[in-house]
Amino acid sequence: YAQNYDEIYRPQFHFTPPAHWMNDPNGLVYFNGKYHLFYQYYPEATVWGPMHWGHAVSYDLMHWEQLPIALYPDALGWIFSGSAVIDTQNTAGFGRNAMIAIFTYHNDEIWKSGKKNTESQGIAYSLDEGKTWVKYDKNPVLNNSGEQDFRDPKVFWNPSTQLWNMVLAVGDHIRIFSSPNLKEWKKESDFKPDNDFKDLGFWECPDLFPMTTSEGTTKWVMIVNHGDKCPNGGSGTRYFVGDFDGKTFTPSQSSLWMDHGTDFYAAVTFSNVPDNQRILLGWMSNWQYATKVPTEVWRSAMTVPRQLELVASKNQFFLKQSLLPVFQYNQNELYKAIIASLPFEKKRLELEQAEISFATEASDFRITLSNSAKEQFQITFADGVIQMDRSQSGQVGFSEVFGSKIQSMAVPEKITSVQMLLDASSIELLINDGKYSMTNLFFPIQPYSDISITSNSVQKIKNLTINAIPSIWKK
Ligand code: FRU
Repeated sequence: YAQNYDEIYRPQFHFTPPAHWMNDPNGLVYFNGKYHLFYQYYPEATVWGPMHWGHAVSYDLMHWEQLPIALYPDALGWIFSGSAVIDTQNTAGFGRNAMIAIFTYHNDEIWKSGKKNTESQGIAYSLDEGKTWVKYDKNPVLNNSGEQDFRDPKVFWNPSTQLWNMVLAVGDHIRIFSSPNLKEWKKESDFKPDNDFKDLGFWECPDLFPMTTSEGTTKWVMIVNHGDKCPNGGSGTRYFVGDFDGKTFTPSQSSLWMDHGTDFYAAVTFSNVPDNQRILLGWMSNWQYATKVPTEVWRSAMTVPRQLELVASKNQFFLKQSLLPVFQYNQNELYKAIIASLPFEKKRLELEQAEISFATEASDFRITLSNSAKEQFQITFADGVIQMDRSQSGQVGFSEVFGSKIQSMAVPEKITSVQMLLDASSIELLINDGKYSMTNLFFPIQPYSDISITSNSVQKIKNLTINAIPSIWKK
């Protein structure tokens, strides 16, 4: 298969598999100077199938080296999503500093027969930085007690209890476990808040970690992904902020959306990153049409990795997202355009790979990306809501919902800054210094080459920068 990474729609600075199907990021862990990205992978087709864990490593989270497949299905089932830890104290007895993967076995034969108990948790270890893996011979380590959906373990070491904790998605809630050794697991509690959304479909891919604000307040953040019924259309990611005592998570406010677009899912954070950094990575697609998007060699990309910061504002906490320093380009290598007054119509630019950012004080604006084939992608901010309209954005007919939908989110304030990353077939918008994020795919038949920005409420946009991403980013 082609590995040039130059096919139509192939992202240049987002992770994609060389070929075939990918979904969730798995086993995100930093070890010996390298970030490991495992991922849900089906190496025989560009649609979902018997799941493996693909594997890639990176020193900077931008350039990735592909490694051989890490985990293959076996008699217990396909290898669904999960996490990885470094066992610094050798609690499991596989060796000091073993890399240990904790994943879901999905038994598709039982599932097809309509019976329950299709999912259980297994572990595997690697003593060579994730290159080769040995599955634990007494798998599964956590059997399910009758639930149909019982998956996506995220495991972390809890220094205050000196135990491992696991958060697991169980149907429509999260279950928390503890273990001294990753092999024996004890149920601690179930988490499903009162006064919550009525039905957000399956709960999937949870995460739980502490974060400290710049004022020194520590809170715990619980991430939950929901496969199908989110208000922004299909798959979505939200988070709770609260407290955790090693057994029970207690939210202290309503949940917030991690992203307001339609193409941000299964997002979880890296384990073991130095200096308590929290880096989030999501799958840039949506189960409503992921298997149908018009790419031929491979399917799906990850989002750009985002650094998280916990911010206290009024009576609420929120997560601010920012691009990692590696995404701040070397200015000498950029084509740059600074345009200071509004409105401006049809600036001609090579927009296939670009970062566009501006500071403003706007209560409304419209950004249009377009090409000479009269395709256009429109972002509108009005009445406190941001909308992305991709009905005329290019290929939309592969799915009933892709083109007709306009996503929107409530932004109860003026927009003060916009940062926009374009990469072949995706847009990621970070609003108000990363307080809001909105991620969407598009598939124009020609790259967008023009941009216009108009607004009724501002005469001037301050510091507008358009960075065309340099070609050194091409692999
Ligand atoms: C989320 C998910 C997980 C599951 C995996 C299967 O996208 O459905 O819950 O483990 O994908 O590929």
